[in-house]
Amino acid sequence: MKAKDILKNMKPYKPGKGIEEVKKEFGLDRIIKLASNENPYGFSPSVKEELPKLISNLEIYPDGYAAEIRKKVAGFIGVKEEQLIFGNGSDEVVQIICRTFLEPGANTVMATPTFPQYRHNALIEGAEVREVPLIDGHHDLEEMIASIDEQTRVLWICTPNNPTGVHIDKTTIQSVLERVPGHVLVVLDEAYYEYLEAEDAFDSIAGLDAYPNVMVLRTFSKAYGLAGLRIGYGVGHPEVIQALEPSREPFNTSTVAQAAAIIALDDQAFLQQTVKANHKNKRDLMQFCEQHQLGYYDTQANFLLIQLPMSGDEMFEYLLTKGFIVRSGEALGLPNTIRLTIGKEEDMKQLQEVMAQKLAMDHTR
Ligand SMILES: Cc1ncc(COP(=O)(O)O)c(C=O)c1O
Repeated sequence: MKAKDILKNMKPYKPGKGIEEVKKEFGLDRIIKLASNENPYGFSPSVKEELPKLISNLEIYPDGYAAEIRKKVAGFIGVKEEQLIFGNGSDEVVQIICRTFLEPGANTVMATPTFPQYRHNALIEGAEVREVPLIDGHHDLEEMIASIDEQTRVLWICTPNNPTGVHIDKTTIQSVLERVPGHVLVVLDEAYYEYLEAEDAFDSIAGLDAYPNVMVLRTFSKAYGLAGLRIGYGVGHPEVIQALEPSREPFNTSTVAQAAAIIALDDQAFLQQTVKANHKNKRDLMQFCEQHQLGYYDTQANFLLIQLPMSGDEMFEYLLTKGFIVRSGEALGLPNTIRLTIGKEEDMKQLQEVMAQKLAMDHTR
């Protein structure tokens, strides 16, 4: 048997440590997972209430076209139904884009570090990956544009960027879109869109009319709290969506996920309430960083990348023993940092106490 050569050097995605695994390893009763940027407040209570009704007819395949959620999202964001493609999480939309546009001889341009699935899927398709290092947490867009050539098929822009959390302002994005040649698909990954507070953010959906080579990615996994159900979507020009459709699995989003997403969209009050709580907890955490002279990036997402006077792994291991699962920046290519999801107020208070203990221990070394 012979797998693709490229796969020999690739590793499967390594998720953050699991809750049960950590409980067992450290003999803890309660674990706070702050590693994958889920919504700590869960998901809309209306979804929970309706869930038992959603599990009837599971012997029937889902609607592959996702007609109901398509109609709902189209109305909600103000686009035509044929401008949408749904995926088993926006992860799958990334994969579909790569399957459609990338192949040996083609290249794709992205920042580093950024969301790793762009690179991963591009490599599997045999494309050349051109990675442009971030400058102080921000995409180096000038260098990214300079890396484009005739063979470039996709340019990835993650805003707010995972793992730094910073966003790109409207004027900058517009200036990029004006200059990227028409043969390049520009993917604006807005997985954390609902958390944006900045007033200078680009209205990507409105921008689709002016820039037909743009595609926007959104998800129900983050602010909507439905990560476990797996549903996200892409929005683009109808011709781009038509090009992508043959690469999509016929029944890629489940009946339950489609129905739950509709109910979740209807409960904007829940969304707003949790986003508001998140902003408050974010500001508290930033204040904690300032008190302890820890650098951080000005995040517009539901996570914060914090600069430490020690390795990210060291802080990660310490927090783990106290029941907090975060992400060490070492693995993300950002030494001496941790990325942590902004959790519930009481959990964040505890986390800050534990971090303060570790920082004090470090001072007395
Ligand atoms: C920037 C970014 N894009 C996409 C995703 C994928 O999310 P999902 O597949 O759950 O929609 C994530 C998840 O962490 C992310 O951080």
